Order: sequence, then C-alpha cells, then structure tokens
Amino acid sequence: MHSAEAIAARVKELGEQITKDYADKDVVLVGVLKGSCVFMADLMRAIDLPMEIDFMAVASYKDGTVSTGDIEILKDLMKPIRNKDVIIIEDIIDTGLTLARLVKILGTRGANSIKLATLLDKPEPRIKTELKVDYTGFTIPNKFVVGYGLDVAGRFRNLPFIAVVKNPDLI
Ligand code: IMP
Ligand code: MG
Repeated sequence: MHSAEAIAARVKELGEQITKDYADKDVVLVGVLKGSCVFMADLMRAIDLPMEIDFMAVASYKDGTVSTGDIEILKDLMKPIRNKDVIIIEDIIDTGLTLARLVKILGTRGANSIKLATLLDKPEPRIKTELKVDYTGFTIPNKFVVGYGLDVAGRFRNLPFIAVVKNPDLI
C-alpha cells in the first residue's frame, strides 16, 4: 500500500512541519508502544529541535471484538509532562477510542499543549469523531494493514513497507 520510499518522504515532510510549528517550544514525543516504535524512530530524526522522547504502553479492553474504550496503563511515562508541549505518536487511529482515553488521562497532568500525530488514519470506523488529529502521514481505507510497526497477531512489525492483509483472521 505504501513503499518504504513513500513513507520516508512523508515522514520527512511531517518532521519539517513539526520543526516549524514547535520552534521555541519544549517538545516531548510520547510514543504509544508497540506499534509507534518505527514511526517514532524515523520521525524524531526528521525533527530539528532540542526535544525529548518518552513512551507509554496501554491495553485496550474489548467486549468480544468491539472495543469498549476502557484502557489500562501497562507502562506510564518516565517523566512528568508539566509545562511541556506533548505530541502523542500513534501508528494508526481506527475507532479513536484508545487515543481519546489517552488524551483524557494525559490532559490531567499540566502539559502546556497536547497534539496528536499518527502515521495512518482510518477515518471510516471512527467512533470518537471529535478526536482532532494534528499530523497524519496517510489517510487509508478501512482495510487491515501491517508493517512499519503495525502487526497482526504480534507479527510483521519489521516489514519496511505497509501492506494490506487480505484475511487477518487466518493469521
Ligand atoms: P482504536 O483507534 O482505539 O480503534 O485502536 C487503534 C489501535 O488498533 C492501533 O494502535 C493498532 O494497535 C490497532 N489497529 C487498528 N487498525 C489496525 C490495522 O489495520 N493494523 C494493525 N493494527 C491496527
Ligand atoms: Mg497500537
């Protein structure tokens, strides 16, 4: 769906945009593990600012196959974000339930600003339609994709490109 070259070009553009938007700000990129790790590694090298990174890991709860929107923090930030300009880094936004809950939790911690950057945006299944995504790599149709950090059943995160999985249930 997207080649390694196309991803690299788009990530460079996002990095340049963030560099412009955050000049003179105290930036922390907060990667949501595990899916964001590849995007995060490339994006931070495309940002030309003094900045910090941190990571969170969350588990989303499902009722059968439907996300309930409840999340549990498995790994919290290592440092406070008070007065910082936070950019949450996601691999993909689907229903938006995970990120909406995360924004709510981090929103109580006194950050100067919180914005969202996602490599992929799948707007069709969005439930949290009020979620404002500030930086998007690519908008994609409602298909299941893997690679560049994204997995199916824990695998294929290491593919350097993004591919559509025809039958995710068979893997
Ligand atoms: P949601 O926005 O709360 O529905 O959840 C987003 C999370 O679901 C992402 O961070 C991914 O971990 C996972 N996800 C959603 N769509 C895909 C996909 O197409 N491929 C791989 N993971 C996906
Ligand atoms: Mg994820």
